[in-house]
Amino acid sequence: MKLKIFIVLSLISISILTAQEKVSIIPQPTKLELQKGYFVFNSNTKVWIDPNKELEQLGKYFTDLINQQSGLKLNATWKMTREIPKSLIRIEFKKDFKNEEAYSLQIKPNLIKIQAKGGAGIFYALQTLFQLFPLNEKQIKVQCLKIYDEPRFQWRGAHLDVCRHFFPVEFVKKYIDILAMYKMNRFHWHLTEDQGWRIEIKKYPKLTEIGAWRKDENGNLYGGFYTQEQIKDIIDYAKKKYITIIPEIEMPGHSLAALASYPQFSCTGGPFEVLNHWTITKDVYCAGNDSTFIFLQNILSEVMDLFPSDIIHIGGDEVPKDSWKECPKCQARIKTENLKDEHELQSYFIRRIEKFVNSKGKKIIGWDEILEGGLAPNALVMSWRGIAGGIAAAKQKHFVVMSPGTHCYFDHYQALQNEPKAIGGYTTLEKVYSFEPVPSELNEEEAKYILGAQANVWTEYIETTDHVEYMLLPRLIALSEVVWSDKNSRNLDDFLYRIKKHYEILSTKNINFRIPTPLPDENEILISKGTKVTFNKPIDNSNIFYTIDGTEPTINSIKYTEPLIIDDNILIKAKTFLPNGKSNTLSSVHFTIIDSTMNGINYKYYEGVFDSIPDLTKLNPIKEGKIYKLSLSEIKPTKESYAVSISGYLNIENDDEYKFYLTSDDGSKLFIDGKLITNNDGVHKIKEASNSVYLTKGKIPFEIQYFNKWSSGSLKLEIESSQLPRKNVSADMLFIN
Ligand code: ACM
Ligand code: ZN
Repeated sequence: MKLKIFIVLSLISISILTAQEKVSIIPQPTKLELQKGYFVFNSNTKVWIDPNKELEQLGKYFTDLINQQSGLKLNATWKMTREIPKSLIRIEFKKDFKNEEAYSLQIKPNLIKIQAKGGAGIFYALQTLFQLFPLNEKQIKVQCLKIYDEPRFQWRGAHLDVCRHFFPVEFVKKYIDILAMYKMNRFHWHLTEDQGWRIEIKKYPKLTEIGAWRKDENGNLYGGFYTQEQIKDIIDYAKKKYITIIPEIEMPGHSLAALASYPQFSCTGGPFEVLNHWTITKDVYCAGNDSTFIFLQNILSEVMDLFPSDIIHIGGDEVPKDSWKECPKCQARIKTENLKDEHELQSYFIRRIEKFVNSKGKKIIGWDEILEGGLAPNALVMSWRGIAGGIAAAKQKHFVVMSPGTHCYFDHYQALQNEPKAIGGYTTLEKVYSFEPVPSELNEEEAKYILGAQANVWTEYIETTDHVEYMLLPRLIALSEVVWSDKNSRNLDDFLYRIKKHYEILSTKNINFRIPTPLPDENEILISKGTKVTFNKPIDNSNIFYTIDGTEPTINSIKYTEPLIIDDNILIKAKTFLPNGKSNTLSSVHFTIIDSTMNGINYKYYEGVFDSIPDLTKLNPIKEGKIYKLSLSEIKPTKESYAVSISGYLNIENDDEYKFYLTSDDGSKLFIDGKLITNNDGVHKIKEASNSVYLTKGKIPFEIQYFNKWSSGSLKLEIESSQLPRKNVSADMLFIN
């Protein structure tokens, strides 16, 4: 009898173990072995560290966090008793790790052992350990396991533009906290721009007296800056989280705020105002004036004194050459320096600055435009206009940070429907996760020049700290795995499973993030009658509420509890609400029943790299066929650059004036009855064009021509009339003949 009970009990305990043995660590550790049992923190738990200042700091950081959650009063001490405590956490440096940032973490029922070569590794081990903690529970119990972990890349970065919109010191620290949670180690701080100068420079006080402030449309001043004291405080804060801050001082372009303060360093002499809208200005630093270089060197000297980073970002991107072409001093410089043109003048500018920075024992990094006209001898390159700049630089044996717009620009849209206004682009969580920083064009030797990758958060359309967090997360979590984990261990499904816990961690820490939507990112979904529609619910304890009357869902709408059977055309609007009642995304999907009256439209798909819509009559389509709704997802493009033609008939219900909205990335044109109605051609980010036309009742022939150059494309056609509120052209309006 006794034996029987024992067997039953052990069976139960085994089944409990398997249920809880999954851990959700991001980024995925190099080696992870789960073991049976738990370590439970209690009042007798001892935290032992070696006698070392850095370990003391880390020990305090660790016990503070434990005590905060558990109410315990643990202390990290190096006074070891002869007797080994029954519950011990041992944190120690160990020389034999090859990788400076590597660590090992071993959790047994009576012992947690953390080892690393230096503080960074210990810090990362603690981040891993924190991710194992239960949420919202006082008792901290962690799964037994054994981890060896090291990063794949040494540059794991995120950038923040504090110029287009300004963010306070406290938020910059929160941003650093978020990076640290995911073992990111570089914070690229974009401090100067046309729209604002954000760093106090003692020698040139007007930079912040004038340059930090712009007048908005109503004449109100907008702006702000960080004092050197505040910057020191932030640098110190970041250091404790093992994050190096890379300051960016833009030159020769993106510098109007500086020129508004000191116009004598421009080609024309000004006067200028700090820019209050998002364009690229032609006014840049004068490259023919030696005093410009003295000015910049004095600024850089203060910057280099402040920031311990051995790499300084000098911008270098998007420099219009207009003012240099007109400026006698710049033209004289081109002659005396034997330069071919203004591109070589830009290269001269960067080389001269590089020489100065190098003389102080530091290096420069610049955006990939610094390749044009010849790369400065020791410069690092940040590849943003795709990966081509990064490839070229690595082949020239220059170090590279990959940050292509396609995968790393977190100012891009995260979905195509119902997102807050963004600058354009379309970069989903999945797309970020798919990023490979080392291009296949590089051989093994060249690949060593790829230092890592970085997310960029430009803030033209991001005004609040909440919105910064929304754009950063969850995409940063995906990038952290790209830059930390083994390439071969990457697995999207497994990542999407693990990230669930992270949504809860972020909520608990009051960090905003884009909440996953219940339905796919589509405006219209074609289904057959009686289809069962299951909503996506990746966050435990969240609730989904929906409406079928077109209104915005609230927590008083219909609660989703089980899959819906769809028998009729229906518009479903649905929102995911976190346990705290927060929601920030909306699904809005027309489900259209496929029936016999629906006969679709024709499409033709062409491949090629175009800058505008090509003459499609001169090209051979790669494929053609019939689709039932007006959507690129139906056509399934197989290349990044392509063109399509979509044609058929639009069923018009009434004689009326109709307005068409054609939205695309890149170019598109709408023809009705053979006439060009809306022209939205050219290489551009998501952009809308609209025109009106009078139509009579009946089936009207139409054609859309569209092309996409690199990156992800998008295409949408909406219609509106006096009797028809603005809506997507839906499948039931389309006919093949
Ligand atoms: C950039 O996005 N202009 C570097
Ligand atoms: Zn000039």
